[in-house]
Amino acid sequence: MSKVLIIGAGGVGGVVTHKCAQIPGVFSQICLASRTEAKCKAIAAQIKRRIQTASLDADRPENTIRLIRKFKPDLVINVALPYQDLAIMDACLATGVPYLDTANYEPPNKAKFEYKWQWAYRSRFRKAGLMALLGCGFDPGVTNIFCAYAQKHYFDEIHTVDIMDCNAGSHGKAFATNFNPEINIREITQRGKFWENSRWKETDPLSVHQAFDFPEVGPKEMYLMYHEELESLVKNIKGLRRIRFWMTFGQQYLTHLRVLENVGMTSIKPVMYEGKEVVPLKFLKAVLPEPSSLGKNYTGKTNIGCMIEGIQNRRRRRIYIYNVCDHADCWKEVKAQAISYTTGVPAVIGAMMMLQGKWQAPGVFNVEEFDPDPFMAELSRLGLPWVVKVMRPGQLMVK
Ligand SMILES: NC(=O)c1ccc[n+]([C@@H]2O[C@H](COP(=O)([O-])OP(=O)(O)OC[C@H]3O[C@@H](n4cnc5c(N)ncnc54)[C@H](OP(=O)(O)O)[C@@H]3O)[C@@H](O)[C@H]2O)c1
Repeated sequence: MSKVLIIGAGGVGGVVTHKCAQIPGVFSQICLASRTEAKCKAIAAQIKRRIQTASLDADRPENTIRLIRKFKPDLVINVALPYQDLAIMDACLATGVPYLDTANYEPPNKAKFEYKWQWAYRSRFRKAGLMALLGCGFDPGVTNIFCAYAQKHYFDEIHTVDIMDCNAGSHGKAFATNFNPEINIREITQRGKFWENSRWKETDPLSVHQAFDFPEVGPKEMYLMYHEELESLVKNIKGLRRIRFWMTFGQQYLTHLRVLENVGMTSIKPVMYEGKEVVPLKFLKAVLPEPSSLGKNYTGKTNIGCMIEGIQNRRRRRIYIYNVCDHADCWKEVKAQAISYTTGVPAVIGAMMMLQGKWQAPGVFNVEEFDPDPFMAELSRLGLPWVVKVMRPGQLMVK
């Protein structure tokens, strides 16, 4: 029986709150806090159990410290934005409360995400006897755990990993992002990067692509991108020779993105407008649909998984582990679309692992550093069933 403080009342925060509320045996009291308390109240109103709400600007640790001292949670789940990660970790250290998030820190004025800022908290969390679990969404998160599961049960040595994220859903809008538009567009417009033969290689943004026939979804064009789980997996999966990340995009999405880039709307450099400083990307976020508003009419499925190749008992083998999630089913269950759902459910499972002592150690960790089995068992039980396919030679190859 534990008290949990959830920070961030967006698309993901809604799913986390619904799912925690479904498991009263673990999450006995829930407080949802966010910059706009009305959004917390709107989520709380969808749920039969009592959810406490609070107004919180988590950019300043003293605000979060005050709320933690009042509510006294056993764990903080941070599903606000990556900009708040360090301030919330500081508040957790100051109050002696464990921490969990789904996206690594980014400085607001530089579109760059790296674990170095959060890994630098390792000794402080270790000395305080506290645990911080990083990147416990789907990707990063479940994709890392798929790799750890493959390493434990299918391979003596993993040589290559291709993480493939496909959203074949349709929300009916001309252009929208499935999670926070600002963070999403910063990520997609970066240069591509992958790890091969012990070094990072870069590519022009979205310049490398190929078609892949996703189970239950069909053939889609997927684009090579840099994604944050590559950084920790390169360190934690031994013997890795290459790891890449791919995401699918439709032509309509890419055309809109190209136009927005060409006219300067994706820039994070402030411009003067009528005597005020405006960041074009922040302004764009303000006019785009909120991710939490997309769910109602969303149809179609996501398929996110890992194609993994390596050696077992001196023989080469290749397996494909993936989950398929249906947008409309997510809406029925928790009033969300599948991208929020596939992020929020793993965050709740990570929280269960910590609160039940199944994953427990002082310090700052990525999810693949723990035993994947109890997490994988809960993943199927809590709405994200997964499939392991042992591939035949030539079947569903990633070039
Ligand atoms: N690992 C994965 O698989 C994965 C996938 C998708 C998303 N994510 C991560 O999940 C997080 C949430 O995404 P989302 O789609 O839910 O985004 P979202 O819908 O934009 O929600 C973000 C929420 O955080 C709140 N917030 C922003 N700044 C805050 C602050 N200073 N203090 C308190 N609350 C603040 C926002 O408040 P307002 O409503 O007032 O703006 C909003 O309610 C992001 O970090 C995203 O990168 C991870």
